[in-house]
Order: sequence, then C-alpha cells, then structure tokens
Amino acid sequence: MSENTTPLKLSVIGCGYLGAVHAASMAELGHEVVGIEVDVAKAESLAAGRVPFFEPGFEELLRRSLDSGRLSFSSDMADARGAAVHFVCVGTPQRRGEYAADLTYVEAATASLIEVLGPGELVVGKSTVPVGTAARLAEQVAARVPGAALAWNPEFLREGYAVQDTLHPDRLVYGVPSLSGADTAVDAEKVLDTVYARIVADGTPKVVTDYATAEMVKTAANSFLATKISFINAMAELCEATGADVKQLADAIGHDDRIGRKFLNAGLGFGGGCLPKDIRAFMARAGELGADQALTFLREVDNINMRRRIRMVELARQVCDDSLLGKRIAVLGAAFKPDSDDIRDSPALNVAAQLQLQGANVRVTDPQALPNVRRHWSQLDCVDTPEEAAEGADVVLLLTEWKQYRELDPGSFGKMVKTRRVLDGRNALDREAWESAGWTYRALGRRNV
Ligand code: UGA
Repeated sequence: MSENTTPLKLSVIGCGYLGAVHAASMAELGHEVVGIEVDVAKAESLAAGRVPFFEPGFEELLRRSLDSGRLSFSSDMADARGAAVHFVCVGTPQRRGEYAADLTYVEAATASLIEVLGPGELVVGKSTVPVGTAARLAEQVAARVPGAALAWNPEFLREGYAVQDTLHPDRLVYGVPSLSGADTAVDAEKVLDTVYARIVADGTPKVVTDYATAEMVKTAANSFLATKISFINAMAELCEATGADVKQLADAIGHDDRIGRKFLNAGLGFGGGCLPKDIRAFMARAGELGADQALTFLREVDNINMRRRIRMVELARQVCDDSLLGKRIAVLGAAFKPDSDDIRDSPALNVAAQLQLQGANVRVTDPQALPNVRRHWSQLDCVDTPEEAAEGADVVLLLTEWKQYRELDPGSFGKMVKTRRVLDGRNALDREAWESAGWTYRALGRRNV
C-alpha cells in the first residue's frame, strides 16, 4: 500500500474503458475498490484478470490490483453499499440520429446507486456530460438521501495511455457542492484529496470549482483538441491547393510554444468514442441554452474533419488512374488511433468502407482491432498481416499509424505489391525511405515530388 494514502472503501459504477482503469488504479493507490458492472460477462472477465479491450499496461495493473485483494467486481449494486465514495463512470454516447448525448446510463446508474447510498457518502461523476447534469443529479441525491452529496470530477485519460493518465494526470478538477449553491455536510474537496492523496502529493495542479465549470472543462478541452486537429487539416487543404507542405508548416508554427506542436498532425483527422460525439453534444447543449452561436465554429471543425475522409478516397481514386473498380487496395490500420482496438467512428474504417462501396477490392489489417472489425464490419475483408493485405495491391493506404507500420521496410514490403504506390493518411511514414525504394508517395497536405 502506498505510504501516504488513508485507505477508503470506494465503488466504481460502470466498468467499461474509463471505469475499469479507474477501479484498478484506485486499488493501486491503496484503496479497497469494488467495480460494479451490469454486464455479467464483463464483470466476470475483469474479476478473472482478463481485459475485454486492448490497453497497454492495463492487464498488469488489473492483475496486480486483484492479487492485492483490494479490487473486486460485481454485477450487484448492493455490493456498493457502505463505500465512502461512489464513482459514476458509465458511457454517454451520441443519441441515435441526433447530436445530443444519451444520458440513459448516467441516469439509470445514479437511480440505482441512490437505492444503496448512505448519509455522509459522496457520489462522484466522472462521465462526460452536458453542462447542467451534475446540478440536476445533485438535487436527486440530496432529495433521496439526506446527508449524501455529489461532486463532479471529469476524466482526461487518452486511450493507449489510460493507466499513465489516471495515475499521473495533468490536473485534477473537482466540481464541488459548496461552490455550486448546494448545501451539504460532506467536504467533497477533502474526500477527493484523500482519494487522490498520492496524486495530490506529486504536486499535480488542482482546480476546485462549481459543477458547471467542472463539466465544461472536459467538453472545452476536447473541443479545443478537435479544433487544433481541424485547424491543421484546414491548412492541409490549402497546402494541397498551393503546393505548400503541411508537415513543415506544422513543425514551423509548432516551434512557437504559444501554439505547440502537439495535436497538429495533419491527416485523416479525429475519430473515436470521444472527440466527435463530445463536440456534437456540446453544440446541442449550447443550442438548448440559447448560446448556439458561440459554438457554430465546431460545426466547421466537424465538417473539415469529415472532408478529410472523402479527400482520402479521392486521392486513392486519382492514383489508381481515376477508377477504383476492381483495384486491389491494402488498408493498414482499422483502429481510430494506434495502441487501441477501438473502432468507434474510425476514420480508417470509414475510408475502407467507402473504397469498397465504390468497387475496390479492399483488404484491411490491424494489429489489435481485427476482432472488432470482423464483429461490426463483416463486409470488409480482414487479413492478419500487412504483407497479406499488400499482396498484389495497386495501392497501399496507411490509415492508422501503428509503430509496426511506420517501421515497415519499404524495400522488402514492396515485393508484395503489384505497384509501389503508398498513400500516407497519417503523415507518419519516412517519405524519403519509401521514395528511395521506388514507391510513389502521396499524403494529405503534402507536395507531390
Ligand atoms: C480524447 C482526449 O485526448 C482525452 O484527453 C479525453 O480524456 C478523451 O478523449 C475522452 O474524452 O475520454 P482519445 O479519444 O483517446 O482521447 O484520443 P486522442 O488521442 O485525443 O485522439 C483522437 C483522434 O484524433 C484520433 O483519431 C487521432 O488519430 C486523431 N489525431 C490526434 C489527429 O488526427 N491528429 C493529431 O495531431 C492528434
């Protein structure tokens, strides 16, 4: 157990990506944690130390926490009874056919948690929610369990770095009742400081604020990141029109540390289960609040992002002598980003599917995401290795920049294909090396040589 931690009993409601990592990380910090997951198979799998998704470093952490005896999983909310703090970590997906977030799971989780909640206990929301949600849930908690309280503590973890981001976050944000006009006896800041004692002791910056600000920090951060990516992709469109080079442009503006080079990688744009749905839910919420004009720029951010996928298909058509019909195309990468098996709103799969619909013969490969692709995109032909994907190919598309693809040897890899043509959808390959090996190299926003 970590020396400076007063162990607490915690529950984590919802053991998907965020919740499972949070639960194991809290046990790592020395607390006694029960993860509550309604999906019985998922709860059993986690309890047996099997991770139902790909996340580097997580399986080791999970097993260590289980072996310590401090972590358990259950499908019965009654097992959350008596915990000092209950973290709500369920998903808030985009509503079907709408921009707004679907709060069904947050509401259901809170309602069933209230049934077992005791006075003096703290409910802590971590899910990404529309601003105003925490205040509404806090009223429900106060009305049903006098003496219990609610805080909002958004999570900023990135897939692929989830363990690192949870145990060593950039900042802690607490939306607390005392600053939100709610009257409660629970000192939420003190409780959260006890939970995160080791992280606080590391000198991690902390912002203690009201509910609305805490909720908005999360959506504002994701909107800013999406805007940064779409900004550089808009510059890529201009580079294509002028013959300039977006990679050099990004390097040059990124040297200004007011701008910074991170999240300025031009290419196929953003996907995944967070950025796309969060900017849409933010726009929808702004509309409900009568402040839609403030976020109209996010519609453009979304449009720029979606245009990159169309542009990639066009570029593939161009290099295939203006026709995709019957062309053999190798797609390297299916996950929405490397080091993840998540294919939600994956730009790579969007492009692969468009190419296939337009008559190309597409073969997709990915080091981790193929089981998910086979489950959800059965119409796509999946193969295990980049070599198999490339056999006889008219063109190779790099759509997710896994390390193993960046490190392919263009010389020997070239022996697989029919024609040495590569489209680098992530500006991630060593262009010179590929060109020296006789490949025609094209990328979004890069000048043709
Ligand atoms: C994102 C945020 O980065 C996290 O801080 C946040 O906690 C998380 O959402 C969430 O809301 O839960 P994540 O979805 O894991 O994390 O992915 P990112 O690393 O942000 O990448 C998002 C997408 O942007 C990927 O498709 C990636 O390929 C793309 N991207 C990223 C670019 O196209 N260019 C870049 O320069 C960077």
